Amino acid sequence: MKQSVDLLIKNAAQVLTMAGFSHRPKRGSELEDLAIISGGAVAALEGKIIAVGKTADIESSTQLLPHARVFDAWGKVVMPCFVDPHTHLVFAGSRQAEFELRLKGATYMEIMQAGGGILSTVKATLQASRGGLEEMGRRRLDMFMKQGVGTVEIKSGYALNTEGEIRLLEVIRHLSQTHALDIVPTFMGAHAFPPEYKDRQDDFVRLVIEEMLPRVAEEKLAEFCDVFCEEGVFNIEQSESILESAKKYGLLPKLHADEIVSFGGAELAARVGAVSADHLLKVSLQGMEEMAEAGVIAVLLPGTAFFLMEPFAPAREMIDRGVAVALSTDRNPGSSPTESMQLIITLACLKMKLTPAEALSAATINAAHALRRAGAVGSLEAGKQADILIMDAPDYRYIPYHYGVNLVESVYKRGVKVV
Ligand code: NIG
Ligand code: FE
Repeated sequence: MKQSVDLLIKNAAQVLTMAGFSHRPKRGSELEDLAIISGGAVAALEGKIIAVGKTADIESSTQLLPHARVFDAWGKVVMPCFVDPHTHLVFAGSRQAEFELRLKGATYMEIMQAGGGILSTVKATLQASRGGLEEMGRRRLDMFMKQGVGTVEIKSGYALNTEGEIRLLEVIRHLSQTHALDIVPTFMGAHAFPPEYKDRQDDFVRLVIEEMLPRVAEEKLAEFCDVFCEEGVFNIEQSESILESAKKYGLLPKLHADEIVSFGGAELAARVGAVSADHLLKVSLQGMEEMAEAGVIAVLLPGTAFFLMEPFAPAREMIDRGVAVALSTDRNPGSSPTESMQLIITLACLKMKLTPAEALSAATINAAHALRRAGAVGSLEAGKQADILIMDAPDYRYIPYHYGVNLVESVYKRGVKVV
């Protein structure tokens, strides 16, 4: 019997299925194999993928419903929507003045320690209305969608007090209820120390653990908990106690690790069993090995190294040691103001020496694993969400090659054309 479908995308130059890795992330040479079907087709019904294969096979095994939509992807690449596993996109204000200061030689940390940086965004965010924050968040999500992203993680962290952090997570929840994109919420109350806690940092850690975490858990506002573990911000001990407490409340740990200095962040991520450790520009050899052993995913953010003019994360060394790598924009107002996963993929190739195939695996199926969403998104396989991207590219290598422009031709989110 032929299966009924309401969406058929056919005749693609290449369908990058990324198949076979819904159960665990790709490592080592697995990143190179995109499970490509040339002359391929994808068929879906009610937002779920029914079949993926050669166009002739799919056409003979499926039956178009009367209202079905058919798209001819001749000469184009069809692939799963990008997944962005690390953003801070709900905030007010912007930091172009700080960008100029950095160009004149000030560092990111100097600006932060002088009360700017994250704290200037905190000030603007606390002053903004809920509706204003939602509107700004919505516009950034629209931008992500136009750039081919189907699933986005969003962290709180620009309030740094209990009511404010809860409000940000409520804004994130409202966005996830009203926007076409899938949103994964992360609590990051430990993003910086508010000025009033400058000389009593452990009191703030206690506030996060004793007041914020129980509220976040009780109101089911987040799935993950993240900490900015860095010299001059949250130290190893503070980060560990926050993440251990988060686990008791059922939140899965993530970590901003070894971004500015080598600090033992990767080792901590392995010790607490974090789902991912992110940034890792200064990760140690020991840290890489422990991450590989513990199965911690490295979420690499080359846009941040680029924008902060820092050396890039040692991605090749991590891949060689069996660490699963994913890619993300790190969308935030200070260290990476971009919604373009396409630019991130180009940077990953040019600056971290990933091959185009490795970068595309890292931006889809492995990124989905970093959010524990690989059962639903990140590849084109029967049973998964029909989150499908059609790229104006004749070959997957063209995606990082023709850089700095938007190659997205159309985006289907749960089978519905949204771009
Ligand atoms: O991932 N490192 C800490 N947090 C963000 C930056 C946030 C900001 O500068 O506003 C990051 O780079
Ligand atoms: Fe970040």
